[in-house]
Amino acid sequence: MKIVKLKVEGLFKNSGLPISIKDGRLLLSKDTYSSPVQKRTLDETKRFLKDPASKTEIENLYLMYRGVKLKKDSLVFKKNSASYDITVINPGFLGEEFVKTIGHIHPNKPRTKTTYPEIYEVIKGKALFLFQEINLSGKNVKLYLIKAGPGEKTIVPPGFGHISINIGNKPLVLSNIQSTNFKSDYSFFKKYRGAAVYAIKNNKSFKIIKNPDYKNPISFKIVKPKKIFKTPLYQAFIKNPEKFDFLKNPEKYKNFLIPKNLFRD
Ligand SMILES: [Fe+2]
Repeated sequence: MKIVKLKVEGLFKNSGLPISIKDGRLLLSKDTYSSPVQKRTLDETKRFLKDPASKTEIENLYLMYRGVKLKKDSLVFKKNSASYDITVINPGFLGEEFVKTIGHIHPNKPRTKTTYPEIYEVIKGKALFLFQEINLSGKNVKLYLIKAGPGEKTIVPPGFGHISINIGNKPLVLSNIQSTNFKSDYSFFKKYRGAAVYAIKNNKSFKIIKNPDYKNPISFKIVKPKKIFKTPLYQAFIKNPEKFDFLKNPEKYKNFLIPKNLFRD
């Protein structure tokens, strides 16, 4: 009975999983597994903010559920060295900034010049994904800000670091799939107090301002994701994991995994 209730009231339609959300926390059916939830507090986030002295009443800015899966699908994820994760980002502000993840970059795949990509999906809420080119060698820092709503998916292209921002007034629920063959690096955005731009409140919307810690000129574009597929990410992966080979072997797809193929104005 409990599972049926979760399906009806919950996030099943967009996530493809019998999960729900209550008071900013994920509720999983008894058949759904996740590693113990990790919580990000303000203290851990301060060095990534425009205003490190920001105060907030929000105890956990965001919650991370790693390796979420139905028990019956465990082998599919293992065989494909992939992890499906869910992040719940609470709504609110840290100073003028919208609550966001601290962000990270992915390493190069060994023996290639390509960093690992990742695929994101909005399950519920209003997201602004910030993708920033990580090569700062004497040219513009290029950023793409991708506005996305429920059901939309977007790919973090190789060579870009990323941050997820909740620009709505309700919890933002995101899922992502990435290869388990690498570890994320958080030091880049820590060094620069975040990305080269901040999303700050502006009446009922947001505006983008430059982070003065970056000395290079910057260029950014606000875009939408190009449609990839309609099915919830989880189900698409379980049905055809071979279609997600680009997560494991990005060097084979590097001509496709570029901004002009992934985003639209
Ligand atoms: Fe990532």
